[in-house]
Amino acid sequence: MPGYPALPEGIAYGGDYYPEQWPREVQEEDVRLMREAGVTLVSLGIFAWVLLEPAEGRYEFGWLDEILDRLHAAGIAVNLGTPTATPPPWFSRKYPDSLPVTREGVTIGLGSRESACSSHPAFLAATSALVTRLAERYGEHPAVVMWHVHNEYGAPLGECYCPASVNAWRDWLRHAYESLDALNDAWGTTFWGQRYGDWAEIDAPRWSHTVVNPAQRLDYARFTNDAHLSHYRLQRDLLRGSGKPVTTNFAGTVNCKSMDLWRWAPELDVIANDHYLAGERADNHIHLAMSADLSRSLAGGAPWMIMEHSTGAVSWQPRGIAKRPGEMRRNSLAHVARGADAVMFFQWRASRYGAEKFHSAMVPHAGTDSQIWRDVVALGSDLAALAEVRGSRVAAEVAIVWDWESYWALELEWRPSGDLTFLERISAFYEALWRAHITTDFVHPSADISGYRVVVAPSSYLLTEASAKNLQRYVESGGTLVVSYFSGIVNEHDTVHPGAHPGALRDLLGLSVEEFHPLREHERVTLSGGATARVWSERVRLTGARSDQRFTTGPDAGHPAVTVNELGAGAAWYLATAPADGLRDLLTPILDRAAVTRPRGLPDTLEHVLRGRHLFLINHADTPAAVPGVTGTDVLTRTPFDGEVPPGAVTVVRLAPLP
Ligand code: GLA
Repeated sequence: MPGYPALPEGIAYGGDYYPEQWPREVQEEDVRLMREAGVTLVSLGIFAWVLLEPAEGRYEFGWLDEILDRLHAAGIAVNLGTPTATPPPWFSRKYPDSLPVTREGVTIGLGSRESACSSHPAFLAATSALVTRLAERYGEHPAVVMWHVHNEYGAPLGECYCPASVNAWRDWLRHAYESLDALNDAWGTTFWGQRYGDWAEIDAPRWSHTVVNPAQRLDYARFTNDAHLSHYRLQRDLLRGSGKPVTTNFAGTVNCKSMDLWRWAPELDVIANDHYLAGERADNHIHLAMSADLSRSLAGGAPWMIMEHSTGAVSWQPRGIAKRPGEMRRNSLAHVARGADAVMFFQWRASRYGAEKFHSAMVPHAGTDSQIWRDVVALGSDLAALAEVRGSRVAAEVAIVWDWESYWALELEWRPSGDLTFLERISAFYEALWRAHITTDFVHPSADISGYRVVVAPSSYLLTEASAKNLQRYVESGGTLVVSYFSGIVNEHDTVHPGAHPGALRDLLGLSVEEFHPLREHERVTLSGGATARVWSERVRLTGARSDQRFTTGPDAGHPAVTVNELGAGAAWYLATAPADGLRDLLTPILDRAAVTRPRGLPDTLEHVLRGRHLFLINHADTPAAVPGVTGTDVLTRTPFDGEVPPGAVTVVRLAPLP
């Protein structure tokens, strides 16, 4: 299997390139400007199906040949797209039943993108026909260094409810369960009298006036993931013959709820992520770091690509907030710090027409006499200076448990509190660790976690018996586990584990929960350590664990709020509530006891990441940050590091070898 693309060398730099929107003279100028900015890689052809196949079976490759040759002559490598995210109008006209249908029963209209169902036989056939030709024609083209399949599977087109999907779903169920008895048991169809006597009676879990069977919905999410994944695999297998790496760009590892990216990752030769800042969020750089760490974890620690981010305004957000001075540089280098070996943007040149004409680009509407262009050129030279970072790895001593199935299950209807969302607790723990300058990996609960000093499970509502045993083995052999409330509650079918909560984790945590007491919207409770907490309270009964802190107010006053169970050589901690702002203080002694290494005394606005022997220091504050005790060369300025990172600046120190 080919790994990370051999070319371009160093840290790849560039973006989505749509020359088909521009006359030849602009295309020629593009290549000149790309060279000026140090661009080494562009993604091409992503939405160009109708230009490549203007009518069924009639292909026009000449325009693409010309562009590929021009880029190659300029030394710019190409990540060649397959344009299956935009089926041509002729296709939709000929196969109107290929249009996706929403859960509410609305048929998707034309004139946008993602307008064919991944399970529709005609779409699969048309995909094969086109991709076979692309592979034949460009597999050996010297400009093409890798393939970019489709675009952002799962967003916006996640679940589809068209007749082809329902057929494929029934096949998927037959394969998964083999018998209707097994399905009826797994789905608990005795509840509300839903027992099925024939496979043909089973429908997709389309919109209903009240809650649809949660186990059925959970399986539909799995089926949807698999339907898109097989559309990817179909293409990947056709492209494999070229010997060049194949990828698809994830629609934001953190935000793409609809795809189980742990299942996707092994099918890609290189992980590629798209990340857009939520422009209005003050802490959006922490969200970026989380997305990057999850990307690296999906890559198993190998280098990955930031395939799309923005130079400024993102036009699909409520306001196209421009980046602050230096923010694009901080964002780009934060991805590199966390393992990316490519920095790519959507898009090269701002479009004059179409849905995304107000989206930022590397060449803005204002042209090259603009701050964005100057920043783009400067970034090109930063990335050239960072070539020596390529291929090096980021080590983490702490991991956070992340499971898309738990994400799906937790956010179905009728949970004990509407405040329970998957990302809320994960983000809270991630932020506390980020501010303590601790780099984290993300892990599936069944993964080998033996190498981490601390593993945190902030939101493991769905946890199988097997995964719970994995966590238990980890603790028994010396690991430190931190579990947050409402974890270990249900199995893979959203069925409550037998007995008192948290069924899958009772023994490991040395406690049981008698009753949940979710808090009102603005309600606060206090803990014996002084912190206030929100969202959740519950009645914990100790069966082996000891109480570290109690609730002092609220429905569980006097009862345990933070507990620890010493088990084998390790310890399992439990937090029965959401500390309002004291999470970091609460974690500090746990991290200390587990001997997690991290720098002390730095401002909590300084991003501090060690990649190989390069220390990335990103100052997100308006004041300088002193970083004592670090010696080495600032790779970006080629000067000795003077122990201070100016406001808003990025310093990459090649650490001096230890004496
Ligand atoms: C997504 C898509 C791109 C573009 C950008 C704009 O990531 O993949 O085609 O629409 O958003 O932010």
